[in-house]
Amino acid sequence: MAAKKLLILPGDGIGQEVMVQVRRIIDWMAKKRNIAFDLSEGLIGGSAYDVHGTPLSDETLADAMAADAVLLGAVGGPKWDDLPFESKPERGLLKIRKEMGLFANLRPAVVFDALVDASTLKPDVIAGLDIMIVRELTGGLYFGQPRGIETLPDGQRKGVNTLTYTTGEIQRIGRAAFDLARKRAKRLCSVDKANVLECTVLWREEMIKLQQSEYQDVELSHMYVDNAAMQLVRNPKQFDVMVTENMFGDILSDCAAMLTGSLGMLPSASLGAVDASGRRKALYEPVHGSAPDIAGKDMANPLATILSFAMCLRYSFDMDDEAGLIEAAVKTVLKGGLRTGDIMQPGQAKVSTTVMGESIVRELDKLA
Ligand code: IPM
Ligand code: MG
Repeated sequence: MAAKKLLILPGDGIGQEVMVQVRRIIDWMAKKRNIAFDLSEGLIGGSAYDVHGTPLSDETLADAMAADAVLLGAVGGPKWDDLPFESKPERGLLKIRKEMGLFANLRPAVVFDALVDASTLKPDVIAGLDIMIVRELTGGLYFGQPRGIETLPDGQRKGVNTLTYTTGEIQRIGRAAFDLARKRAKRLCSVDKANVLECTVLWREEMIKLQQSEYQDVELSHMYVDNAAMQLVRNPKQFDVMVTENMFGDILSDCAAMLTGSLGMLPSASLGAVDASGRRKALYEPVHGSAPDIAGKDMANPLATILSFAMCLRYSFDMDDEAGLIEAAVKTVLKGGLRTGDIMQPGQAKVSTTVMGESIVRELDKLA
């Protein structure tokens, strides 16, 4: 079997140190499960700007296009706050998503039994939670034209962003979400603001058409985004799969992350369309950011990035067994009482990023 081409982009802040732990898991998979990886590493975000003067160089983008999968840490930090908009670290992330055509962003929110008490919500509200937010990632308010800041004849300045979706864009994210729901509890909730925004009236119409023509076995419901935010904290277990616009998904997925106890637990997969050879471009990253306040202190939670690598094994390489092994190791280590600061609870043992990573590897050894 050809080696799997993995491009690693640690990025900025804690992205660097959590990726060191993922490397351990990759090495373990290579050695103990005989998976041949062809690894390379590149720069993105502020660290790329420091070297190349741009948050994503053409070379790195070309490497990402050629890779079977990209693993990304996080981007951003106060060091780059004063850069012009187009040079900011976040532009690198948005550009790689757009150029690779990664329109489907899968953000699962799963509550591990051991972490039921780490959430700010009551245990009975979140125990056993397992939902999937499907965020449209290359359109909507993040990318719509016109955009920018202009000066009006009277001297005022005007900021503009535009929410647009074509029927084709809605249908492809709709299919991705319906397909996922079909493999789960067969319930899809489409989140929109159809009482105010025409663009999402179209979104709703297209979702209904898709359900009627291709997915009658999946139950489709609709919810306004403000209500969805409320329902996520009121009774999150009513959901199975949610599908929504880019910016709505950005906001709702942070909210869903906190249901699980910490942003440090949430992985994500960003997938493109399946091409003629059956291959799809893919990028895996934790939902959390670069956390500059704790960067370099060996305090960050590496689990979201480790779980993102598990998603990579599952969605890019069809290695459900290996993905399951990683997820089981995470569960056992948490059950054993090891906690990074973000999920620390009374009576548990506070450990560093490094110790958490090493513990997952030790657990993999036992499980395999
Ligand atoms: C995310 C992040 C990014 C986004 C930022 C860093 C550009 O918040 O992945 O959710 O807004 O998409
Ligand atoms: Mg976000």
